[in-house]
Amino acid sequence: CGIVGVVGNAQATEILLTGLEKLEYRGYDSAGIYVQANQGVDHLRKSVGKIANLRQQITAEDQGTCGIGHTRWATHGKATQANAHPHYSQDRRFYLVHNGVLTNYTQLRQKYLKQVNFVSDTDTEVAVQLVAYLVDQEHLTTFAAFKKMVQLVEGSYAFALIDQQNPNRIFIAKNKSPLLVGLGKDCNLISSDAMALLDQTQEFLEIKDGEIGIIKAQKVQLQDVQGQEVTRESYQVKMDPQAISKGTYDSYMLKEIDEQPAVLRRIVQKYFSDDRIQIDSELLHELAQADRIYIVAAGTSYHAGLVGKNLLEQLAQIPVEVELASEFGYHLPQLSKHPFFIFLSQSGETADSRQALVQIKDLHYPILTLTNVPNSTLAREADYTLLLHAGPEIAVASTKAYTAQIAVQVILAQALSQEKELTPSKPLAVQQQLGLAANAMQSLVDAKEEIQALVQKYFSKQETVFFIGRGNGYAVALEAALKLKEVSYIHAEGFAAGELKHGTIALIEEQTPVVAFILEGQTAAHTRGNIREVVSRGAQAIVVSQRQFSQKGDQIIFANLDERINALAAIVPMQLLAYYAALERGNDVDQPRNLAKSVTVE
Ligand code: G6P
Repeated sequence: CGIVGVVGNAQATEILLTGLEKLEYRGYDSAGIYVQANQGVDHLRKSVGKIANLRQQITAEDQGTCGIGHTRWATHGKATQANAHPHYSQDRRFYLVHNGVLTNYTQLRQKYLKQVNFVSDTDTEVAVQLVAYLVDQEHLTTFAAFKKMVQLVEGSYAFALIDQQNPNRIFIAKNKSPLLVGLGKDCNLISSDAMALLDQTQEFLEIKDGEIGIIKAQKVQLQDVQGQEVTRESYQVKMDPQAISKGTYDSYMLKEIDEQPAVLRRIVQKYFSDDRIQIDSELLHELAQADRIYIVAAGTSYHAGLVGKNLLEQLAQIPVEVELASEFGYHLPQLSKHPFFIFLSQSGETADSRQALVQIKDLHYPILTLTNVPNSTLAREADYTLLLHAGPEIAVASTKAYTAQIAVQVILAQALSQEKELTPSKPLAVQQQLGLAANAMQSLVDAKEEIQALVQKYFSKQETVFFIGRGNGYAVALEAALKLKEVSYIHAEGFAAGELKHGTIALIEEQTPVVAFILEGQTAAHTRGNIREVVSRGAQAIVVSQRQFSQKGDQIIFANLDERINALAAIVPMQLLAYYAALERGNDVDQPRNLAKSVTVE
């Protein structure tokens, strides 16, 4: 979910709507705003679906100087108008938006709110009704009631509350869910993400877990858990507004796929100077002391981590485990004596990854975050950060962040190898290879019609597709299947090529597409054997590899690269495949159903 708020600006409604549009990547099941007018007429508007629907409901009268808004990714309760935020107290005095999940809302409702008529199925409504209850029954001030509510709730939250009887201020609190303050000219703002406010300000104030505050037009008051006043330096966020526009493209996804060669070249530029890798020597020193690396991530970033493991093990000769953040935090494996943790996250905000990071921090192990978003939560809380330099990734399905994550991991693996003074039996000319990979990607994105033709040939009617591969090809198969599922809604699965025959081959029918990645010499013959196995059972094989194979069926060939990094090229046609399959089915490629780009709940 995404939150935005503003106080002290006559354009409040427009600021909220524009902000929400920029936050739509966090969820788009429903949205709403509450704007407080100076004449005492308040405006609450909500709608199901995207911000565009909400916009349609706004009338010329919906103006004011202080307001809050929310775009939702449903957790408790369906995506209905009643469940959309802002939620309000029974007496309609308090209005609240919330990002996160409250785990004890049923108990709180039982204990304090039996008499209250609830109008939604959400956990959030309990929070706002509780504030009203505490003000009425315990005669607390609004701030005291808000503070007590925050102490009573368990779970994750970023809250923003407006009290009709205390105008021109927003009460805020944060725990685990992202929230920051934007310092404007004669006004102040809040948001889950700086990006939503960049047209208003570039100056931001961090809010830490457990902090609570009051935001007014000219003043920001923050308190820590103990009630002590917090003062903190603001920071600047500089982002080119062009980078977040679609330009001439119809979709962000295609734009971001096309940007990959440029991103790769930018990464080389940023991480190399005079042919030498530029990575913090302290980080490399600490990494070199580790006896094992744990890569923790979710979704596409997890898949990039699988490729990263192979690279780090091969180049830097260090054992690496790749862990799903959602599993890792609650089922901590037996850790080695000197572990080092790498968090991979495009957004730097994923709640599953963050909860794992908090635990590792408590254990005082060193942490590096690889992220695309400077100043994101995971960047701020890690000991070290390496940026992906991919530019804002807006389409929900991740593309350029995936290849950027692989590229930065190659560079890191190489730097670590140098730090450890290893003499590799098969050296990798990283800088040169990344340049070649950028060229290979360029040829692949230039040959879009081929992929489009494949989609029309095989994917128009098929409901199931399999992806198989070995080594890095297996990792790419997992990511290719995820991409296709996310945007085309075709059922797809990725398999280690040798595994399909141990069960799932039962699902192969006449014409079922099986995409096979042959990305390494040592297992090429075996994977070709696996292709023959499925073809002889009626499957339609499509091979992705660096060279032509004699067997029948379609092939996607890309330029010769060192096989340790050819995942970078192999994924590109698969991203395009997913894109065209989605287009063919009339889906919204940038905002596929049920998904959010940044999932800030566990
Ligand atoms: C969401 C997105 C995925 C993404 C995952 C992890 O589920 O829809 O595309 O891979 O979160 O996100 P992160 O920002 O941590 O890489």
